[in-house]
Amino acid sequence: MSEPEVLARISQRVTGVVVGKRDIIEKLLLALIAGGHVLLEGPPGTGKTTIAKTFSRAIGGSFRRIQLTPDLLPADLIGGSVYDPKGGNFRIREGPLFANVVMLDELNRATPRAQAALLEAMQELQVTIEGNTLHLPRPFIAIGTQLPAGSSGTYPLTEVQVDRFAMRVETGYPTDAEEKEIISGIDSIESKDVTAGVRAGELETLMEAARKVTASDKLKEYVVDLVRTLRSNPGVRMGPSPRATVWLYKLSRARALVEGRGYVLPDDVKAVAREVLCHRIALGVDAADPGGMVDDLLRSVPVPKE
Ligand SMILES: Nc1ncnc2c1ncn2[C@@H]1O[C@H](COP(=O)(O)OP(=O)(O)OP(=O)(O)O)[C@@H](O)[C@H]1O
Ligand SMILES: [Mg+2]
Repeated sequence: MSEPEVLARISQRVTGVVVGKRDIIEKLLLALIAGGHVLLEGPPGTGKTTIAKTFSRAIGGSFRRIQLTPDLLPADLIGGSVYDPKGGNFRIREGPLFANVVMLDELNRATPRAQAALLEAMQELQVTIEGNTLHLPRPFIAIGTQLPAGSSGTYPLTEVQVDRFAMRVETGYPTDAEEKEIISGIDSIESKDVTAGVRAGELETLMEAARKVTASDKLKEYVVDLVRTLRSNPGVRMGPSPRATVWLYKLSRARALVEGRGYVLPDDVKAVAREVLCHRIALGVDAADPGGMVDDLLRSVPVPKE
């Protein structure tokens, strides 16, 4: 099996259902290979659920979809202890979070308490129930969708919580041609059953290959430079954390692998910078948008010459 072949199998299955959105699918693949969680954000009806569901099914392994609503309790998500009338004792029941790929649909409709339980588990890759520690299966990838901040009936995730997502990817409106393709194919889009294009074992091989991608000292310094420069921007109230730097590095390695290279280039870093950095900067009152700020950053920080 070659890496590009496995990746092609996954994206082929997704593009059989999702119209356009190539860049989003590519970003989801990178996150998967790097072992990071992704937040998909965009206006209502722009395909967030369709993309996340189709992608999750194409990956293989066990899959669970959790639709978040304000009445869900932490135990509904991570599990809890239940009374077993036959045995006359309590036993631990694992929640829906125990799967390889978990789709957390409409994450910001859950209450802060349920969100906190979920995001803790995603970060630690384990849950504690009645003093028992249970490990989540590996690989474990969460794909969360959420409505843009400020939508009614939502509880915004805190800055700490969004930091736990390796990437945030935004969905937007389709082009006219894409929109026509969506309506032309809608009956098959809505009924198509996507099968897995990759086995969990193959996925782990890909993840291992990404860890073997190398980066020069100069390249690492470039990654650190980008984050430091952003932190010191006067328009930024709170800059990206070292976790952001780590994901910038890991996702750049994944990008190099997908491009068929064994070493990271500055272009790999640039290709993932927006999705890694934008959701991790809190802006001051009169600053521009984070996307524009990251674009300026990529233009202004000198690229290392090897
Ligand atoms: N790029 C696309 N490819 C295929 N179908 C699409 C695409 N964009 C939107 N649709 C179609 O539009 C409808 C709404 O999509 P979907 O439910 O995925 O949006 P959403 O962003 O999850 O919406 P919400 O914010 O309400 O949860 C579905 O019928 C879906 O098939
Ligand atoms: Mg949806």
